[in-house]
Order: sequence, then C-alpha cells, then structure tokens
Amino acid sequence: MSSTSPVQRIADQAARPDPYPVYAELRRSPVIRDESGVHLVTTYWEIHDLLQDSRISSDARNLAPGANPLLAEEGEATLPPSFIRLDPPEHDRLRRLAMRPFGPPHSPRRIHDMHGELTAIVTDLLDGLAGRERFDVVDDFAYPLPVAVICRLLGVPTEDEPRFRVMVDGVVAGLNPAQPVEERRAAQHSRFELGQYLAELIEEHRRHPGEDMLSAWVTDEGPEGRMSLVEMVTNAVLLLIAGHETTVNLIANGVLTLLRHPDQLRRLREDPSTAPQLVEELLRYEPPVQFLPQRTTLTDLDVAGTVIPKGAPVWLLLASGNRDPRRFTDPDTFDPAREDNQHLGFGFGIHACFGAPLARLETQVALTELVSRLADPQLPEDPPPYRPSPVLRGPRHLEITGRLVA
Ligand code: HEM
Repeated sequence: MSSTSPVQRIADQAARPDPYPVYAELRRSPVIRDESGVHLVTTYWEIHDLLQDSRISSDARNLAPGANPLLAEEGEATLPPSFIRLDPPEHDRLRRLAMRPFGPPHSPRRIHDMHGELTAIVTDLLDGLAGRERFDVVDDFAYPLPVAVICRLLGVPTEDEPRFRVMVDGVVAGLNPAQPVEERRAAQHSRFELGQYLAELIEEHRRHPGEDMLSAWVTDEGPEGRMSLVEMVTNAVLLLIAGHETTVNLIANGVLTLLRHPDQLRRLREDPSTAPQLVEELLRYEPPVQFLPQRTTLTDLDVAGTVIPKGAPVWLLLASGNRDPRRFTDPDTFDPAREDNQHLGFGFGIHACFGAPLARLETQVALTELVSRLADPQLPEDPPPYRPSPVLRGPRHLEITGRLVA
C-alpha cells in the first residue's frame, strides 16, 4: 500500500475520476485506523450493520474534544444541527414533521403525482437545447432539473437561484473533510446566511401560504404540533441542499456511464421500462454520496475484530461497500439487469434518504427522455473534470456532442 494515508488517498483530487481501485485496496481490512484518528469502514456488511446500530451517533456534539472542527467557536453565529446530524428522539420527531407534506403516511402520493410535472420540466430543458450540437450535461440539464424541482416543492423562488447558489456552495465546501479547518468554519457562516434567507421566506409563506412544503410547515398542524421557526429553518436548509446537490451527480454520472456503455444506452432507448433497474444500478456503481464522514462511536465498538474507541470519528465508505465482492457478483461490472441490488447509495436505517423516491423518479425521467431524443451522442473528453468533493462526487462539467431531436 502507498505511503500516503488512506484519508489523503481518498481526498486526493487525482482519484476523483476513478476512486474504486483505492477502495478495493482499503477493503483488504474491514476497518482501517487512519493516522488522523478517523476510522474507515470499508466492507458492505460492516457498513450495513453500523447504519442500523444505535451505538454509533450522527450527532457531531458526541465527537471527542478536539476531533470536531465543525463546531463553531463561542459567540460565532451558527444554526443548530438539522436532523441528518441528530440522534433519536430529536431526529425522529423532526424527520416526521418535515415529512408530513412530502411522503407517507400523511402525504403518500405527493411524489408519485409529480411524474407529469417532472416530465414537463425535463421536456422544457431539452427543448431549450434542440438544435445544439454540443452541450454541458451538468450546467444545461442535470443541475437545473433538481434545482427547479426542489424549489417548487419547498416554495423557494427559482429566480433566487443565483442568490442561494453562493451560500449553498459555501456549505457544500464544508462537507469536504479534506478542507482546512478555517474553510469548514466559513461553511458554518454560509449555512447561517442561507438560514437567514430561508427564515425570511418562511415568514412570507406564513403571511401568504401556497401549496408548497414551507407553507405546509407553517400552517398545517398534526398530532405533534408545529416545528419552531429555527427547526423549520434547519429543515429547509437541509432539504434545499440535499434535494439538488446529490441528484445532479446521479444524473450526470448516469449520462457518463451510459455513454461508456452504449449497449445499455440502446437498451434504455428501446425499453424505457428498464429505467428503474438502471437507476438502482447507478446508485450502486457510481453513488453520488461516496461516504458518510459524520458518525461517532458512543462506546468502544468491536467491528470485525477491530475496536473503534468511544468518541472516534468514523467514515462509512458506502461506495466501497457497493463494490464489495463478498456482497455483489462482479461488483465492478455495470449490470442494470442484476437481480439482487440492495446497494448502500441511499444509506440505511433511521437516516435512510428522505428524498429517495423523488431522486429515483427525477433520474428515471431525465435519463429516459434524454436518450430518447439524443442521436449519435459522443464524449469529447473522458474522464470529464470533477467537482472537488470526495463525498458528493460527480462531474463538474460533462460536455457531449450529438443531435437533440425535437
Ligand atoms: C441521488 C440523489 C440522492 C442521494 C444519492 C442521497 C443520499 C443520501 C444518503 C446516503 C443519506 C443518508 C445520510 C446519513 O445516513 O447520514 C441521505 C439522507 C437524506 N437525504 Fe438524500 N440523497 C439523494 C437525494 C435526496 C433528495 C432529492 C432529498 C430531498 C428532497 C434528500 C433528502 C435527504 C434528507 C433530508 C436526508 C436525511 C435523512 C435523515 O437523517 O433521517 N436526498 N441521502
């Protein structure tokens, strides 16, 4: 194994186009202690079990002193954690309240009923590209789609995108554990500013409610009452970011993977009913969330014979688990027809992705419509340039040539 540490190897931008050989080497041991104190969990079953183990926490306040660069210094303006970074019972209550206007049990058809609306947004985006012989899949398609969708769902004006983009970029930079501590503190500031912007919007929705989630949170009262304003703000920050920063990568990774596997592109074009299977395989093969760098042990924990001490930072390498040959046959082969595909792309357990049904539907519609209208697609640059984050991994740009038919 090379002399640089495992964390440095994963964080290295040179590994971004193809991080999988690094994961394959790391998988020789289910748990690796990095020199930084981080414990990396690399194999499928160990990750799967830890995602459902209450002895491991998502709450950053449980990290041992000094191990948490993300905690703000005293007096610094900051927002409390959102429910992705909380444990039960706080997590469960906030997730249930946030979910009321989004999914089951209170709104079971909300996402299902969006099929027509999503197809219309995709069609508009593709119509706008008709006649072009070269375009950037990320900037022209994979990014505007989930932004439009999450804005519409939440009740955030899409015209505000240039304003919130700067703040979202600031927050996302802080999710990159390879960033220096100062930059991660700057991310807390961006999160606070984004919260201020969303607090104003929430107040506006209180005065003039619409059909969106922010309006539902301020007006609708279920058996558990309403959230406080600060709770609504932290939820809105989480949903706005999680709702597009991941799906953009799934769509872009999807187009790239299809262009590298023309037989699969043809299969989708000829039989759009294969889209759900294709998207599941993408979530296994090229997961947009590569790892979860935000867990902490609440006790000394024996994982596959290695004791992870209480208070240690733990990274769960989802993308490595998804390529574990002890779990998946031919894991490095992209095979949408594989029957057993319980990937880790959306996590598992109490924090399993809240937006999974929406992300699945958006990506199924986006890829199906794109391949049905794109003739002779080619990739002028392979690999494309990648975003800096090793966590939320995907192309920064993806230029393709071809003819988009009306
Ligand atoms: C392809 C797209 C997406 C991927 C790969 C993805 C992946 C994930 C993963 C791996 C987790 C687990 C985090 C953890 O255990 O710490 C998660 C949680 C979450 N996701 Fe997604 N996500 C996607 C899209 C979305 C969308 C569209 C939304 C919102 C509409 C969303 C909202 C959330 C929220 C709120 C959580 C936190 C759940 C909790 O802590 O209970 N995600 N996502």
